[in-house]
Amino acid sequence: MDFNSGLLPYGNKWRLHRKMFHVALNKDATLEYKTMQLQKVQQLLENMINTPKQYDKHFKTMSAAIIMAVTYGYDVAPRHDPFVTKIERFMELFLAVLTPERAALLSFVPILQHIPSWSPGGKYKRRAGECRALAYDVLNDPVAFVKKKMAAGTAEKSLVRDLYDKEIGETANPDLEEDVKAVAATVFLGGAETTDSTLLVFLLAMILNPDVQAKAQEEIDRVVGTQRLPNFEDRPDLPYVEGVYLETLRWRPVVPMALPHMTSVSDVYEGMYIPKGAFVLVNIWAMTHDETRFPDPMAFKPERHLTPSGTLAAGTTSHSFGFGRRICPGRYMADQAVWAAMVSMLATLRISKDKDEFGGEIEVKPEFTTGLSIHPKPFLCSITARSDEAAQLVRESNSGE
Ligand code: HEM
Repeated sequence: MDFNSGLLPYGNKWRLHRKMFHVALNKDATLEYKTMQLQKVQQLLENMINTPKQYDKHFKTMSAAIIMAVTYGYDVAPRHDPFVTKIERFMELFLAVLTPERAALLSFVPILQHIPSWSPGGKYKRRAGECRALAYDVLNDPVAFVKKKMAAGTAEKSLVRDLYDKEIGETANPDLEEDVKAVAATVFLGGAETTDSTLLVFLLAMILNPDVQAKAQEEIDRVVGTQRLPNFEDRPDLPYVEGVYLETLRWRPVVPMALPHMTSVSDVYEGMYIPKGAFVLVNIWAMTHDETRFPDPMAFKPERHLTPSGTLAAGTTSHSFGFGRRICPGRYMADQAVWAAMVSMLATLRISKDKDEFGGEIEVKPEFTTGLSIHPKPFLCSITARSDEAAQLVRESNSGE
């Protein structure tokens, strides 16, 4: 995981990675991915209508498809995609190996790192071995795919192609190539789970707040109509939907303590001495639940981001992407993907509590995983097309009619 840009300390390598992210994922560059993102969202809608119980899997598929297209110009296979399967296994192993408590134990009792992999308690080492082998493939295989396509003159626009064109050019500097591979792999690691977790939060919020869903749908029907799917040009005219989006990020930020930071010099802050090298965790969750800014913070209220006349209030940016120099470099891409998925689901789907055998609603108690990045635990829900017309629109959008 040394290659992961999010874990790099300040320095030339981290600066180079940030520059690469900026070249490929700045606000303007990201605009070029809008059409592709909408296409992947349309596939999501069809999957949701066909097999709604697998909503979790459909979000994962959509996030992976967008990220692989943005990063490598690669169209993922609907099932068992060879690249995605390896990356997902890699992440699963990594997250299992490096839980915060295990990391703390290993750093406080370093001798534990030397226990043989066959001994009791050595399971993490066996997993680490598999993880290391997979890391090699995760870094190299998709970039080899792009280079082959570039040589044939058929490479789609992507982060890797942009970086080869703009940063590496004719120099073919092997060090820079390693950094391109690292930056590209980091996009999946930083972007896939966070995007689909945010969509799970949205789904949960819609089940628990049917009045919010109805209001958002009323706005979409009024502004967009029911004869077409919404697109990015509608965004400024849908302030309530924007409120739903901002409230989703605020209500349950999926990276609630950002990434751990460390002070590079000693400092005194409000009378407290903070030594150089101290861990600093930014409590994003506390900021987005600050009662002075967000009264009744546990309630899901899109109105809090709007003026009394219903327009978007000034200064409604989200804290959920972090701050300062280490702010999330994928925020524009995530913003587009999450908004597009939300507005399209609202336009075409009815999301509600599931029913039991007697027709009674099954209550949903929101529960979340813990860790650096969190998501709602599985919950029951019912997802159907809002109308025959909506189902037809979804089918047509996917058949290219
Ligand atoms: C809704 C989706 C997302 C959320 C909520 C989110 C949130 C965050 C947060 C809170 C941080 C820590 C910032 C800090 O420590 O101040 C972060 C860092 C990061 N994110 Fe995201 N992120 C999302 C999507 C993405 C995507 C799509 C990418 C793909 C490029 C990405 C790549 C990264 C990277 C590379 C870092 C580390 C930056 C650094 O250390 O310099 N994230 N993200």
